[in-house]
Amino acid sequence: MSFVQTVIKCRAAISWKANQAFSIEEIEVAPPQSGEVRVKIIATGICLTDASASRGKILDVKFPIILGHEAAGIVESVGEGVKSVKPGDHVITLFLPQCKKCEVCKREDANTCMEFFHGSQARGVMDDGKSRFKCKGKEIFQFMGTSTFTEYSVLKEINVAKINPKAPLEKVCLLGCGVPTGYGGSTKTAKVREGSTAAVWGLGTIGLACILGCKNAGASKIIGIDKNPMKEQIAKEFGCTDFINAGDVSKSIEEYLNKKYGMIDYTFECVGTIPTMKQAFKTAALGYGVCVLVGVSPQDEEINLSPIDFLLGRKLTGELFGSYKSVDDVPKLVEEYMEGTIPLEKFITHNLSFDEINEGFELLHNGICVRCVLNYK
Ligand SMILES: NC(=O)c1ccc[n+]([C@@H]2O[C@H](COP(=O)([O-])OP(=O)(O)OC[C@H]3O[C@@H](n4cnc5c(N)ncnc54)[C@H](O)[C@@H]3O)[C@@H](O)[C@H]2O)c1
Ligand SMILES: [Zn+2]
Ligand SMILES: [Zn+2]
Repeated sequence: MSFVQTVIKCRAAISWKANQAFSIEEIEVAPPQSGEVRVKIIATGICLTDASASRGKILDVKFPIILGHEAAGIVESVGEGVKSVKPGDHVITLFLPQCKKCEVCKREDANTCMEFFHGSQARGVMDDGKSRFKCKGKEIFQFMGTSTFTEYSVLKEINVAKINPKAPLEKVCLLGCGVPTGYGGSTKTAKVREGSTAAVWGLGTIGLACILGCKNAGASKIIGIDKNPMKEQIAKEFGCTDFINAGDVSKSIEEYLNKKYGMIDYTFECVGTIPTMKQAFKTAALGYGVCVLVGVSPQDEEINLSPIDFLLGRKLTGELFGSYKSVDDVPKLVEEYMEGTIPLEKFITHNLSFDEINEGFELLHNGICVRCVLNYK
């Protein structure tokens, strides 16, 4: 096979500085090097993590940068040694890689590939220390091994999952982050049992997907908690049986929930704040309850909990990307979507064109937007 070595000129949304609007610019995208693939992005979701990163709040992001991580596209070219995909294949971008070589990847029961924290993607570059993007002669950093707010991106082979070409890319892009994170939280991390009770804090994409997982696993009571009353209706469409407006509860929410519902088997924190994490933990049944932390709190914050709770059998865990092994499991989730088990359409409340990216980020604050998908031409 011969390897394409052309530079592609295309448009990308650049974040030049923290807290600035995205600026659509012409960029140069270098050809994929050994173990890398160049992907034409077709559609990308906007996730809260992109918003936090654009404010410079997480993952030590360096500017200027091309953000975005929840996308689907078509492989345009591949570098030397790439075996799992070829030009023309349909792929989903993976912020959580699966290298299949590190100590974590080699285990059956773990998914947090060491490349995520220790690989070049954590430094915003490729393995040779360089980014594959340039704009106005300046190197532009890459984001989470994906950088999807561009018409073409270069990713490592370990950051893409080859999927069924019949799947609509503008829908299955959601399987690059939010939906697997919440859905796997209940079905894979907690392994919710039939007939059980669950409570979910935060009814954004992650919390709603978590509710869907609880429902598909056969939970009999699924309590959704949000401070935004507009979330009640959509949560019920996903299988939430009881909605609690956090703003209406004046005393401790854990006491309120325990009094109203008794022992709760599973609790899920899908907001990303320390107070809601504590509430979720303290609501899980003493003796056997399991609390799963899914939300991401600011990097420098810590949580205080009493060891007595652990001694009494309350369990606390957390997860990244729904505990899924990304390269292996995302294609299977695409099939679940095709079979109707995971109705991705229900999460997509807004569709915009790539040019409207700034409007897309504004929608994150309007209270009714669950996912906004940006479509590239
Ligand atoms: N673990 C992972 O792998 C992973 C991956 C992606 C995102 N996340 C994190 O998951 C969290 C949720 O993401 P999302 O995209 O669903 O966010 P979102 O903003 O769409 O939803 C958050 C919801 O929480 C609600 N909320 C805020 N404060 C609350 C409170 N005090 N009590 C109850 N509800 C409250 C909001 O009204 C909103 O509906 C974020 O912290 C995000 O960073 C985790
Ligand atoms: Zn690995
Ligand atoms: Zn995300």
